Amino acid sequence: MTLDANTKSALRERLNFYRELGVGPLYRRAAINSGAPDDFGVELVDELAEAADRLADAAEREAQEAYLPSATGIDRATLLQVIADDIGPDCQRCKLAKLGRKQIVFGTGDPHAELMFIGEGPGADEDAQGLPFVGRAGQLLNNMIAAMGLKREQVYIANIVKCRPPGNRTPERDECETCSPFLMRQIGVIRPKVIVALGATAAKNLLSVNDSMASLRGRFYDYSPPGIVDESDEPLQCKLAVTYHPAFLLRDPRQKKEAWRDLQMVMRHLNLPTPQRAPSDEGS
Ligand code: URA
Repeated sequence: MTLDANTKSALRERLNFYRELGVGPLYRRAAINSGAPDDFGVELVDELAEAADRLADAAEREAQEAYLPSATGIDRATLLQVIADDIGPDCQRCKLAKLGRKQIVFGTGDPHAELMFIGEGPGADEDAQGLPFVGRAGQLLNNMIAAMGLKREQVYIANIVKCRPPGNRTPERDECETCSPFLMRQIGVIRPKVIVALGATAAKNLLSVNDSMASLRGRFYDYSPPGIVDESDEPLQCKLAVTYHPAFLLRDPRQKKEAWRDLQMVMRHLNLPTPQRAPSDEGS
């Protein structure tokens, strides 16, 4: 097998990338040194190509589980970038790619956040800006976060699907399922103490249930993102709470009181001070 200089250099780059991720060993020395001297160059390149394949497999397997910061020694922002790179800028894995989305909305916030909000999917503003919750519902989410005594930059915000469904329709099951492994990996990197599912789509997809919002709210669930393990190789665990989607609260502001109760429950779990009075409705 002969490889041109570009391919060799691409292979080397890839091997270095995996080496930096802590995946290895990169190749078997004995195999490389055992060939007849004449074949050495060819064998090295063969070995390199095989190693690249093996490493790609290993990385894929690892990706299915989790990129755990402690296991790899790589910082969480980089690990999130690896996930974003795996998705790619022009993901074609589901039909949303062909239904008018402008760009992928990966997620935003503190990679070390204790609190993660998960919505449904990007709307028009999010699709235009490439960031979750930046439209009217996002303004209200910002107010909810501020009412908890936090800044938006201190939490992590993502969605069940990363591409805008046409006309803001609810994402379909196959779209949610296709996107889910990437969201699970994000959760595996961030390792929040609490996830707040915003609205029925997020709640039902995360919890794999089909109950009403009324019955889902008001309590914590023990949540383990499928396929994600902690540093002891045990399923990663966190708490999950369900509350109303901010877009719903914009339509029915009377429910804000109930949402505030849900958020207070979360604040208590995170040891955040909980003021007795509900935040004022002004500007929200
Ligand atoms: N609604 C969502 O569910 N997610 C967003 O990012 C914006 C609006």
